[in-house]
Amino acid sequence: MKILVVGGAGYIGSHMTLMLREAGHDALVLDDLSSGRREALMGAPLVVGSIADAGLLDQVLAEEAVDGVMHFASFIQVGESVREPAKYYRNNFVNTLKLLDAMVRHDVRRFIFSSSAAVYGNPERVPIDEQTAARPINPYGRTKWMVEQALRDYSSAYRMNSVCLRYFNAAGADPLARIGECHEPESHLIPLVLEVAAGHRPSIQVFGRDYDTPDGTCVRDYIHVVDLCAAHLSAMQMLVDGGESTAYNLGNGEGFSVQQVIDTARRVTGCDVRIAEAPRRAGDPPRLVADSSRIRRELGWSPRYADLEAMIAHAWAWERGN
Ligand code: WQD
Repeated sequence: MKILVVGGAGYIGSHMTLMLREAGHDALVLDDLSSGRREALMGAPLVVGSIADAGLLDQVLAEEAVDGVMHFASFIQVGESVREPAKYYRNNFVNTLKLLDAMVRHDVRRFIFSSSAAVYGNPERVPIDEQTAARPINPYGRTKWMVEQALRDYSSAYRMNSVCLRYFNAAGADPLARIGECHEPESHLIPLVLEVAAGHRPSIQVFGRDYDTPDGTCVRDYIHVVDLCAAHLSAMQMLVDGGESTAYNLGNGEGFSVQQVIDTARRVTGCDVRIAEAPRRAGDPPRLVADSSRIRRELGWSPRYADLEAMIAHAWAWERGN
């Protein structure tokens, strides 16, 4: 397959690009390098530019006969999305439509979309399956859900076949530590904890200890970035084989609390991780755990690195090398 990886210089996109090439596929990256890093491409071909640029999209899709598109280029900070919703609606929704419209113009009709557990908002029941109503509680989640809804309509009207993958908490790094997670500024729990372990930060803030969870801290379902990418590959293959548009949850089905993540990081790194207690972070649901049985059943996907220790060990190996 020849795949256009939009946002392929970012955290998840760069792992995807690497996996595609190692599996013998062609990957062409389109990235504006606003947060992605050229080094993360490990030599994969790159077009520098934005999906907001319809002329560029036309040029790329006319010159390159791609079998499908994987779309990783979105803004991901929930708090920022509340403060600057226009930025999120414009990039995550409007610009994604520009990408889809260019695909329709050039008859490219396979699309894998990085959706999010954020579409579920604050669900009444966990684990969360795909039947759970989508009720996003912030602009970030709403933009993801708006794209999912547009994709349903594009599927029936324009035969745009798509798979929306609703990620829970992506974590870990390339097991060979060639690439890893690097956000600027960093806001995700595991990389922050590892920066404390490495001595680059004084302490990790624990956002709330009064949740209705076993130890009072928030529970999340962490999924290894390599397992996420493997699901993208299976989903694209399913579309190539004639499969229909759908959406899948992607998590391990096991929840870990913030405190458990910190304790595991202490064990894996052998370093002290100082804690600073902090108030709840606005908009954090207490518990998000995926029921991913549908993608297991329908695509035969299963995680290779379901163990939190493995995710943290891989992230730590990368952190040490950088
Ligand atoms: C995990 C837990 C925090 C930092 C977000 C998005 C989601 C997805 C993944 C894009 C929470 C706590 C964190 C810290 C803490 N999309 N925490 N101290 O918020 O679950 O998911 O990222 O990236 O759509 O919402 O991930 O890693 O920020 O937080 O106590 O310094 O760690 O409160 O409970 P989150 P996270």
